[in-house]
Amino acid sequence: MAFSVHAIALLLVTFFLISPSNSATCNSQTFTNKKLYTFCNDLPSLNSFLHWTYEPANSTLSVAFIAPPASPDGWISWAINPTGTGMVGAQALIAFRNSKGAMTVKTYNITSYGPVMESRVWYDVKESSAETSGGMIRLFATLVLPANGKTMVNHVWQVGSSVTKGVPNKHGFQPENLNSKGSLDLFEGKSAGIGESRSKKKNIHGILNALSWGIMFPLGIILARYLRMFPSADPAWFYLHVFCQVSAYVIGVAGWGTGIKLGSESEGIQYTYHRNIGISLFALATVQIFALFLRPGKDHKYRIFWNIYHHGIGYTILVLGIINVFKGLDILNPEQQWRTAYTILILILGGNALLLEVITWIIVVRRKSIKSKRTYYDHSSHGSHEPL
Ligand SMILES: *[C@@H]1O[C@H](CO)[C@@H](O)[C@H](O)[C@H]1NC(C)=O
Ligand SMILES: *[C@@H]1O[C@H](CO)[C@@H](O)[C@H](O)[C@H]1NC(C)=O
Repeated sequence: MAFSVHAIALLLVTFFLISPSNSATCNSQTFTNKKLYTFCNDLPSLNSFLHWTYEPANSTLSVAFIAPPASPDGWISWAINPTGTGMVGAQALIAFRNSKGAMTVKTYNITSYGPVMESRVWYDVKESSAETSGGMIRLFATLVLPANGKTMVNHVWQVGSSVTKGVPNKHGFQPENLNSKGSLDLFEGKSAGIGESRSKKKNIHGILNALSWGIMFPLGIILARYLRMFPSADPAWFYLHVFCQVSAYVIGVAGWGTGIKLGSESEGIQYTYHRNIGISLFALATVQIFALFLRPGKDHKYRIFWNIYHHGIGYTILVLGIINVFKGLDILNPEQQWRTAYTILILILGGNALLLEVITWIIVVRRKSIKSKRTYYDHSSHGSHEPL
């Protein structure tokens, strides 16, 4: 047990200390044309980077946008949205390889989610070009923005996988593709993801729920199942179990709430399975909390039914909780090490449970044989006190 507690503590620490990003940062990127930009930003999704210089005197914005297209024949796009925050209304620059095989940059006034059409945009494009290298497309442009004195703009970026007859085809709808927007202070250089607060919420949702449904509930079940075998751990195991599950429930409900909120906020996408499992987990766990109050006494004749119901629901929560953490990981799609850390944690918990299961059986069998011996002695020599 001591080993497992240490291992879990260690893993939890690793789990929270793993830094989410060790990929390239824009500061180390240089340009073959020796161009220097005042600011650069590692954009929060799609492995993209933006470098820019803004000259307020003549409203000139010079940008370099770097991103890996979704496939080698794909496209990348960077846009300013002067009227909103998402894709609709975006004044986009799209870089792709044209039918003659040369890299080109075109402008698009995105008015709907339908196919895009080349058009004039809200700003003037003084010059633009694009190049590919190392799986990345680099889009360069010098834009003259309408002079309105505002330096805070909403921007959107995107990558797509294909171009048909000179028209970029629609992009994927993964969370990465939907979170690729933010705001940018062109002059101050500050940037904030509009998707950022949302992705922060998602991370909080993920951590709360993984901790509750994915770790604490299983741990509480292990405590109850194996500690009770030791007479000295009675009734401590019971209080530990209740404490563990009630705190897991409290954290779980908080995590569940953030999930419901995220679900109601997400436009047009529904993670049906994840959502339904989440709702079932909440319902089942709530029933379990009631089970605490409805528990008949140890020797009550209905206690067996209560046990079946309590254990049945408990194990269902165990399985569904772990499944839903993995489903959530699929949706959130964090760095691989998070999935690895959680998988290792579950394997350690599972391995310990297996070990304890074996030990428990050995103890049970031994106790039985001692008991039967005892009964034998009790019958034969009335009250002989064999040491146990
Ligand atoms: C804008 O001003 C800067 C700095 O004076 C200058 O380098 C740049 O060429 C100007 N751009 C345009 C489009 O006039
Ligand atoms: C972009 O399209 C919208 C809707 O058709 C239109 O109102 C707007 O003026 C267009 N923007 C430009 C710069 O042409």
